[in-house]
Amino acid sequence: MRKPVIAGNWKMYKTVADSVATAVALKPLVANANHCEVVIAPVFTALKPVADRLEGSNIHVSAQNCSTEHNEGAFTGEVAAFMVRDAGCSHVIVGHSERRQYFLETDEIVSKKAQAGLAAGLTAIVCVGETLDQRDAGKALDVVKEQLTGSLSGLTASDLDRIIVAYEPVWAIGTGRTATPEQAQEMHAFIRRVFTEGHSPAAADKLRILYGGSVKPDNIAGLMKQPDIDGALVGGASLKAESFAEIVNYNG
Ligand code: PGA
Repeated sequence: MRKPVIAGNWKMYKTVADSVATAVALKPLVANANHCEVVIAPVFTALKPVADRLEGSNIHVSAQNCSTEHNEGAFTGEVAAFMVRDAGCSHVIVGHSERRQYFLETDEIVSKKAQAGLAAGLTAIVCVGETLDQRDAGKALDVVKEQLTGSLSGLTASDLDRIIVAYEPVWAIGTGRTATPEQAQEMHAFIRRVFTEGHSPAAADKLRILYGGSVKPDNIAGLMKQPDIDGALVGGASLKAESFAEIVNYNG
């Protein structure tokens, strides 16, 4: 059985004080959520204060990015994965479409970041997803396969145990236009097949694949009914503790 993961990506929102306040408000609202793993991803500056306040709770803290470099060094503006771990995080998101689009991250860079995260003992949430043009051109499956293969290249079989894949169609992110449960299921099943071929049926069976893109309290249950959807990566609706808690508690 794959344990679902509900992760909140706070993107570049919230001061330290706002982040801590949201995390503290979330804690009691999801305290009984044993059916899934709960993850929140604040901005870098808030990671340590949020992680400190959540110590001993069932909420995991994730960074939204990390350096490709494994060790400290003269890399101005970068934050290494081991520093993220040191700040109290257990997860790191890599290859989000906003990073691919605005910060020109290639599959090669994403793969290096995933490797850096894993080497630091973090679970890497690796994001993939096609644009609307690519979907309309009938290329969605090819694009996602290429991203997946490139972003996971260089990983060992044991690394795969600490990988979570997030399928986030770019056209559904922040647009209010969510993929239908059937569209998402089709891609998730495809990703699992790619994993079976590229790695092993056992690795594919264990892999958690999250859906992301306009996930809200009113569409999470339908998505979670799909056999290959193992959770969600939530942007906008994760910014408020109440709406994120509703998503976490989708099962009742
Ligand atoms: P959204 O963002 O839920 O606001 O569409 C999802 C994401 O970018 O992870």
